[in-house]
Amino acid sequence: MDRHVEAGAGDKVAFHWVGEPGEDARDITYAQLQDEVCQAANALVELGVQTGDRVAIYLPMIPEAVVAMLACARLGAPHTVVFGGFSADALASRVEDCQAKVVITADGGYRRGAPSALKPAVDEARTKTDLIEKVLVVRRTGQDVAWDDNVDVWWDGAVGSASTEHACEFFDAEHPLYVMYTSGSTGTPKGILHTTGGYLVGAAYTHWGIFDLKPESDVYWCTADIGWVTGHSYMVYGPLANQATSVMYEGVPDSPHKGRWWEIIEKYKVSIFYTAPTAIRTFMKWGDDIPAQHDMSSLRLLGSVGEPINPEAYIWYRETIGGGRAPVVDTWWQTETGSIMISPLPGVTAAKPGSAMRAIPGIVADVVNDEGESVPDGSGGYLVIKEPWPSMLSTLWGDDQRFKDTYWSRWKGMYFAGDGAKKDIDGDVWVLGRVDDVMNVSGHRLSTTEIESALVSHPKVAEAAVVGATDEMTGQAVCAYVILREAAGDGGADIVTELRNHVAHEIGAIAKPRQIMIVPELPKTRSGKIMRRLLRDVAENREIGDVTTLTDDSVMKLIAQGAAASAED
Ligand code: PRX
Repeated sequence: MDRHVEAGAGDKVAFHWVGEPGEDARDITYAQLQDEVCQAANALVELGVQTGDRVAIYLPMIPEAVVAMLACARLGAPHTVVFGGFSADALASRVEDCQAKVVITADGGYRRGAPSALKPAVDEARTKTDLIEKVLVVRRTGQDVAWDDNVDVWWDGAVGSASTEHACEFFDAEHPLYVMYTSGSTGTPKGILHTTGGYLVGAAYTHWGIFDLKPESDVYWCTADIGWVTGHSYMVYGPLANQATSVMYEGVPDSPHKGRWWEIIEKYKVSIFYTAPTAIRTFMKWGDDIPAQHDMSSLRLLGSVGEPINPEAYIWYRETIGGGRAPVVDTWWQTETGSIMISPLPGVTAAKPGSAMRAIPGIVADVVNDEGESVPDGSGGYLVIKEPWPSMLSTLWGDDQRFKDTYWSRWKGMYFAGDGAKKDIDGDVWVLGRVDDVMNVSGHRLSTTEIESALVSHPKVAEAAVVGATDEMTGQAVCAYVILREAAGDGGADIVTELRNHVAHEIGAIAKPRQIMIVPELPKTRSGKIMRRLLRDVAENREIGDVTTLTDDSVMKLIAQGAAASAED
């Protein structure tokens, strides 16, 4: 920001911000953004934030979210952005893990045409942790909020009255920039730590190279929420480092109508568009006549991220949204990698629908077998990265050992991504999905064990097993098998709804199981391990696979019957 303003680009639009209600859309120039960020940095200092302190950000998709992130970066106070859809519990556990002392939130945000509250979740989180000293509250919806004068501070007052002068501080390249929590194989989310220098190099280089960005003429739109890594690298840090003009949209794709995104593309003449396969599949279902009502001839490049894109969705995206002109870049990366690792390069790679193709220049990725040996073309194995890269995670916040164990212990000198992949006969990479206990639902990472723990924390539940089953719309869907405690009887007529709501309360609505099956037993091996493979067979209505390692194979019959009964319900 400071560089761009100094270079004379202060009047350039950094964001065309579009609120869900629409009438309050506004453009924010680089100079305005700089002023607001300086004000917010000064306000944070007033609230006691110093270099090295952690600040949690729990905001809807409003400009203040970007301002808050950059204000933290400016002070060298690592931010941790928590997705606004996460629960009070999830917020509190992240605050506890990284010991954040300030939370920046809003009264609420707009979703599906109505204000939805956020501040109450922060109030609830404060009952679970006493670390939060100050809560800075943006007034977005005008909803009534509970107020604690000792803790709560209105953004309007504190930021609005602060000086726009703030000298940018300089930090070592390895100074922590942010912590982003993501699901791992075990119950507690991992705090992925990204540092300043390398991360910015990775985000800026890939945003420029893979999206073929021409900052002077492009209008770029990444639809990700700021609460995920894609929102960090490709809505905030990459585009702003490259002096891009971006669109930022607050709401959902179908409010007030199903053509909202295409209307925005038409209005702002968006030329580069980056979204997730799950959204593309949803639009496909809604029908071609909706995008056909809009002039989207400005689009020249399309991107996909978050999960494997099925060839039908890829072709629909390219033809119906991109008019057959715009190449599609299917970008593979992770919260941990910080920036795109495997992707076609537009105008260079002859892409194949469904393949992320090759590692980008500078990245050394491979597919290896159990022994860590590179597999020949035409074979499958595990996806690894074999050389360091600029935006690699530094560690897991407060847990170096888990960092080593998770990513670096399987094969010497290789980063294990947790994904299965195959190389086709041309050596191009097809990512097949996670090989660990992590699910991918609508491009969001969810841990099976985390949802199991949430279920088991319900007083009526004795045991739970969760699997990700293939789902046409969301890629995978959460399916849970639950054994009730004896004292709970049959759990009552609303037990399934009760448990689904409980998971939403513990983690967030995105983690709600699609299906919960009440079963009498779970299939276990002789060593007591739950055989998820078999549960996945049931959830996907497949013939049940090999049961020879089960202690008691009649269990599967009972489960299949239980599942059928639950499905009828
Ligand atoms: O399984 C891969 C899948 O998403 C995982 C990373 O999730 P997360 O850290 O939440 O980051 C999402 C946004 C980068 C990966 O391990 N994934 C991501 N992109 C793709 C993908 N799978 C296939 N193709 C992709 N393009």
